[in-house]
Amino acid sequence: MPFHDILIIGSGAAGLTLALRTVSTARVAILSKGDLKEGNTYYAQGGIAAVLDNTDSIDSHVADTLDAGAGLCDRQVVRFVAENAATSIRQLVDYGVPFTRADVPAHGTEYHLTCEGGHSHRRIIHAADATGKAVESTLEEQVRATATDLYEHHIVIDLIRAPGRDGRPGRCVGAYALDLKSGKVRVFRARAVVLASGGASKVYLYTTNPDGSTGDGVAMAWRAGCRVANMEFSQFHPTCLYHPQAKSFLITEAVRGEGGRLLLPNGQRFMDGFDPRGELAPRDIVARAIDHEMKRLGVECVYLDISHKPADFVREHFPTIHASLMDYGLDITKEPIPVVPAAHYSCGGVMTDLRGRTDVPGLYAVGEVAFTGLHGANRMASNSLLECLVFASSAAADILTRLSDIPEPERLPPWDESWVTDSDEEVVVSHNWDELRRFMWDYVGIVRSTKRLERARRRVDLLLSEIGEYYRSFRVTNDLIELRNLAVVARPIILSALERKESRGLHYTLDFPEPDPIAAPQNTILVPANFTARPRD
Ligand code: FAD
Ligand code: SIN
Repeated sequence: MPFHDILIIGSGAAGLTLALRTVSTARVAILSKGDLKEGNTYYAQGGIAAVLDNTDSIDSHVADTLDAGAGLCDRQVVRFVAENAATSIRQLVDYGVPFTRADVPAHGTEYHLTCEGGHSHRRIIHAADATGKAVESTLEEQVRATATDLYEHHIVIDLIRAPGRDGRPGRCVGAYALDLKSGKVRVFRARAVVLASGGASKVYLYTTNPDGSTGDGVAMAWRAGCRVANMEFSQFHPTCLYHPQAKSFLITEAVRGEGGRLLLPNGQRFMDGFDPRGELAPRDIVARAIDHEMKRLGVECVYLDISHKPADFVREHFPTIHASLMDYGLDITKEPIPVVPAAHYSCGGVMTDLRGRTDVPGLYAVGEVAFTGLHGANRMASNSLLECLVFASSAAADILTRLSDIPEPERLPPWDESWVTDSDEEVVVSHNWDELRRFMWDYVGIVRSTKRLERARRRVDLLLSEIGEYYRSFRVTNDLIELRNLAVVARPIILSALERKESRGLHYTLDFPEPDPIAAPQNTILVPANFTARPRD
């Protein structure tokens, strides 16, 4: 039964950063359900938002974030993140991330800064069009050189809470994880547990996310007694490649930042009719406009065109996209790219404070799994990696301050599988995966209605009871664990969407097409049955 001071679940930007901030003074382990690299971070393209140019300002970054967030961002959190952005970037530079340099350094920075939707200034630092790969690979290299214990191919099934004084669940003291190589469930004990397990966009049929984005962290935290907030705000990225052989290939918003135009099949631009910022309006507006035009014209995609720019410029700024699309027979220096919106980011998540603390003592959440209040009703482009970095640092500092006061947890009960057998019908799992993701796409997508959401609620309740029965009867597998979590996460998405009787940011419903004109904007907070208010500490 391995014991560590800090158990980190997830090895993206959030988890790896937290490990690097703590490993010199604490015994740290990282659990990751795939290779260390695999997760959303690796696939990030556009970059990281930070005020690095001396003609830009923190106030402007804050104002743009608040504007994109449509009245629901927490101002204190937004300022905290914007103010800590430059330091976070400096740390990445120190680790060796090869950010793209400007041809001619200007305004106090040697780096090339690009622009994306919602930003009123060029403030996105990037490594060409593969920022995530550069960040993740560098952090991985750094972490592998430390004493961090790495458990790859270990999928965490559930968190463990110790018995509390009054018979109610106490601190989070560890987790059960299935070792995918041996097939055995192992018990991990720790003084502090950190969820850094990423988002849940795989709950939708079409997504830019890799396969592991199944909302495991939100589902585990919910089962452990944490509140979740703003789950209705699923972000759809406007421009995912539309090609029969391409699975989840994003075309970065930076293409629009560098002059890319959105076109209808007849070559006509259309974004100006939806927002004065045109192609660089915040994502919710652009994705909805594309959805509207596709439905109006009955077409399967729209087009993103950067071919009016010099070919050298396109190849230099977007080498990965250029090369990948050449493989599909598409030359972006000469022709427009077919694109459609796809589920991209979970703005809601496990509620935390500025130090990453959740409702359960001993349990932290950082990165996409968390709801910090930064993104409000719509995340602004490139604020996500930034949130991972800033909150990983603040949570790390908080954990280290308190570690010596937390006693080593006692031996934990082993995983009990005396009552289960091997599954005899795997088809139930694959069928339910497909059904869930399809009805979420059809009924809880970019445009919603109360009738569609009610339909989705009935479906998910049925699935939850079927999956629950299956889970109690059969030995756990990777697919079963993920399916169970997807269904658990789909429910709060649907319930939160039903609860919001207005359209705001990413949540658009035909039954209430405008923001509530009277009530002040509110977060949607869902409270699990086993929630108990956290003792003051
Ligand atoms: P991830 O990087 O997703 O890592 C999650 C980790 O948790 C993985 O290691 C996974 O294996 C592990 N995990 C999950 N569940 C379990 C479990 N049950 N047991 C064990 N391990 C588990 N944001 C930006 O700011 N700028 C961008 O340019 C940008 N581009 C993007 C492009 C794409 C294609 C995508 C998909 C996202 C993009 N985003 C971007 C969003 C951003 O990449 C993510 O929000 C961010 O990387 C999340 O980091 P994370 O560390 O929270 O999670
Ligand atoms: C992109 O490069 O378009 C993605 C940026 C983001 O999700 O923040």
